[in-house]
Amino acid sequence: MFNDLIDFNDLTLSEWETLLELGLDIYENPSKYKDYCKNKILATLFYEPSTRTNFSFQSAMLKLGGNVIGFSGTSATSVSKGETLKDTIKIVSNYSDIIVIRHPNEGAAYAASLYTKLHVINAGDGGHLHPTQTMTDLFTIKKLKNKKMTGLDIGICGDLLYGRTVHSLIKAFSMYSDNTFYFISTPELKIPEYFTYELRKNNKIIICDRIEDCIDKLDIIYMTRIQRERFKTNEEYQKQVGIYILDKEKLSKAKEDLIILHPLPKNNEIAVDIDDGDQRAQYFNQAGFGMYIRMALIIKLLEKPKTQINLKNIKTTEKKCVNENCVVNTEKNLPDIFKTVKSNKANSEKICCAYCETEM
Ligand code: NCD
Repeated sequence: MFNDLIDFNDLTLSEWETLLELGLDIYENPSKYKDYCKNKILATLFYEPSTRTNFSFQSAMLKLGGNVIGFSGTSATSVSKGETLKDTIKIVSNYSDIIVIRHPNEGAAYAASLYTKLHVINAGDGGHLHPTQTMTDLFTIKKLKNKKMTGLDIGICGDLLYGRTVHSLIKAFSMYSDNTFYFISTPELKIPEYFTYELRKNNKIIICDRIEDCIDKLDIIYMTRIQRERFKTNEEYQKQVGIYILDKEKLSKAKEDLIILHPLPKNNEIAVDIDDGDQRAQYFNQAGFGMYIRMALIIKLLEKPKTQINLKNIKTTEKKCVNENCVVNTEKNLPDIFKTVKSNKANSEKICCAYCETEM
């Protein structure tokens, strides 16, 4: 059984399937679950802005009969007085039973999970991962595509470099096979290769410059916002906005049963008349489904106490991560942990930071 939800590899495919099925049951019979978390407290630590993820976690816990404490933004907390991530996590662990964290540094949720005996859920770590958004996405696809998770043509469009929801989504789809992925982005915002190693094994990948090049083939199009907050300069960001806009004209060539997904918030990447004017727009429903699957996740994690990793047993090295936004470079005294991953080239392996997965 998994201890935390930091990344997709934390769960096996059968654990994912159990979770998704539980989410579907909660969706059908919410009142059955109304007392599951009585006397339990969820702590929501949002160091970065959030609407859907934060509110859906809070309402998930309240609908399970539990309670919620937390913050949205750090200005009213001791973080603004210089408190480290470690100390905040240690303190919050005294007052709650399970922790949800969103943080601007890649790897922060993993670091947090090392500091506490409570289950930790990654609600977004910098430009790295966002696994509970992906749970929402998989739940939506299962629900709207009659539980079909293979043989799909899936377009992913926009900011594939910084979009953490995209990274988690393609990691999750590595568990399934025989899907075709169309990655639609500018060369500057293309998908980092290391996220595709696993996906390539059992799925096909096609790189596209334009939505028009593949829209007629797609079963799903996953639009994303250009992640303004991750760019080094506003100039670089401005060069990327407004390039991909899904509008009526492009959709006139798409399948009738296409589903249009978006993790939201959206800026201008979907024309506003699509929202209510096209039954294929499913992103508001998608956000609604997020609460049910988060209820399932909280139930499953709280079923068993966590087995905490003993930091003393972890071998550390002198290497530092090359990603300056990685948590190992901002949080003092974290063990430097590295892992090897198989690369796209036959029989070769790459060394990656275990927190943010950047190649060394
Ligand atoms: C996403 C995020 O925070 O990564 N939002 C969300 O949680 N649904 C997507 C985004 O901000 O673009």
